[in-house]
Amino acid sequence: MSAPRIAVLVSGRGSNLQAILDAIRQGGLQAQIVGVFSDKPHAAALQRVAGTLRWAADARSFPSRSDFDAALADAVAASQPDWVVCAGYMRILGDAFVERFRGRLLNIHPSLLPKYRGLHTHERALQAGDRKHGASVHFVVPELDAGAVVAQCTVPVESGDTAQSLSQRLLPREHGLLVAVLGLATEGRLAEQGGFALLDGQALFTPLPLDSAGHLILPDPLLSP
Ligand code: GAR
Repeated sequence: MSAPRIAVLVSGRGSNLQAILDAIRQGGLQAQIVGVFSDKPHAAALQRVAGTLRWAADARSFPSRSDFDAALADAVAASQPDWVVCAGYMRILGDAFVERFRGRLLNIHPSLLPKYRGLHTHERALQAGDRKHGASVHFVVPELDAGAVVAQCTVPVESGDTAQSLSQRLLPREHGLLVAVLGLATEGRLAEQGGFALLDGQALFTPLPLDSAGHLILPDPLLSP
């Protein structure tokens, strides 16, 4: 059987994409990246996958937002992905795109959702005086950053932190989180139904936490074979 197929959407430097590539190369993730797609033709992330199908287009060269989304969706669909992952994809996906890939469309977001949907999450956590910050991997739904959260990782906020120092502390934890969730997804253990994330067919009522060693802590009943 061929490895599960992952399409990755990126806009920037691509460190999360790199984490997925590294995990596949090192044998920690049984999957293949079948395409990398971007709204930024010059995104550094695209340079990380020279031998892979790459698609990028400047959204401003399309007559409308929905035209760009449709072209992106067709390109993603052509790569026949089992899972579509937004890994630092910074453009809001329209409803038609989301509905086309719904249930197999994941995003990593740098906050402990439902806190801080949208942009500037590190700044907002600092401004709020939060002692704890983190990232979430969630299913994508039409409403921005509002889909069922599968798993989260946390980091402490330290005195004197800036948005940059906080994001630097979080980023390696994000990488572990994304790879761990993709592990469950590609093993066929993850689904979305009725606004909930399902693990092995059971609804998750709280996000799975990532432990300090980078492993997801699964609910007890799921530990037994
Ligand atoms: C990551 O921190 C990711 O969580 C965030 O962008 C960064 C991309 O880094 N995503 C969002 O803010 C989505 N709303 P990367 O390009 O190095 O993977």
